[in-house]
Amino acid sequence: MKKLFILGALLLLLIGCGADAGEETAVPTNTPTSNGNGNGMGMGGGMGSGMMARHMAPIPEEYAGLNSPVEASEESLARGGELFTTYCAACHGDGGMGDGPASANLDPAPVAIAHTSQMLGDDYLYWRISEGGQGDPFNSAMPTWKNALSEQARWDLINYVRALGSGTAPDMGNMMGGQAYDPTAEATRQADMLAQAVEQGVISQDEADMFAEVHAELETNMTRSMQMRGNMGQMQQVLLAQLVDLGTITQTQADQFNDIHTRLLEAGLMQ
Ligand code: HEC
Repeated sequence: MKKLFILGALLLLLIGCGADAGEETAVPTNTPTSNGNGNGMGMGGGMGSGMMARHMAPIPEEYAGLNSPVEASEESLARGGELFTTYCAACHGDGGMGDGPASANLDPAPVAIAHTSQMLGDDYLYWRISEGGQGDPFNSAMPTWKNALSEQARWDLINYVRALGSGTAPDMGNMMGGQAYDPTAEATRQADMLAQAVEQGVISQDEADMFAEVHAELETNMTRSMQMRGNMGQMQQVLLAQLVDLGTITQTQADQFNDIHTRLLEAGLMQ
């Protein structure tokens, strides 16, 4: 099951979140490139490659490698929920899907953090919440919270947004509006994307089937057991290496995943 989880998590990274598996990801200190796309669409509509560039952003030394000291207890989630409703939901939406009332005019748009937080390290999330989105490569309206919110508050928020995306968040009511994270809608979106990729000859039906099958298995077996550190590209590299070490996949298969993913990206299907 553990192997399946890891493989599933890898596929989530590859399909669900469109993490770039390109060579950039192997060298976290690279300067991230901006493709000027900048749409930062939430997962509801898929993710643009603007988001990809952001997820490859090198985590500043001050934050890199941090792990949460705050357990996702009921108390922490309750605190996080209050804070989220007060400070975050206007942009990110009550369900963390990036569709709060203030999101409409923002470019880049607020991210579906309920989803992306599943595949982003503690350090990445803590950095982003602390420092916000001013400057490259983000250039966004995401505020800086390190002066307004205590360290514990920021970790509580991370616990809460992750819980939003795994269906374990306490119900805070519908205060600001926005959809709840819906794994079924997410699965449908992925299936549609893969079907389109096959139709366009980007990947074969076999490749699409394999992705879909393992991903479906994952959804029923998902637990948090992996190292939650790094940006999306770094986490993906760690997972790939783990899978090869475990013998779950061969290096050739890992390369194939990367290749399929790159093709999907280049075809604009990860948008
Ligand atoms: C004024 C609107 C606004 C508010 C309020 C806001 N955000 Fe954001 N946030 C954004 C935008 C826009 C982005 C996407 C661009 C970026 O990554 O900087 C973003 C991105 C993020 C990211 C990065 C996610 C990823 O996938 O890379 C995190 C984490 C985050 N916000 C958490 C929060 C939390 C927690 C709060 C409340 C304390 C909050 N935000 C409040 C607009 C906002």
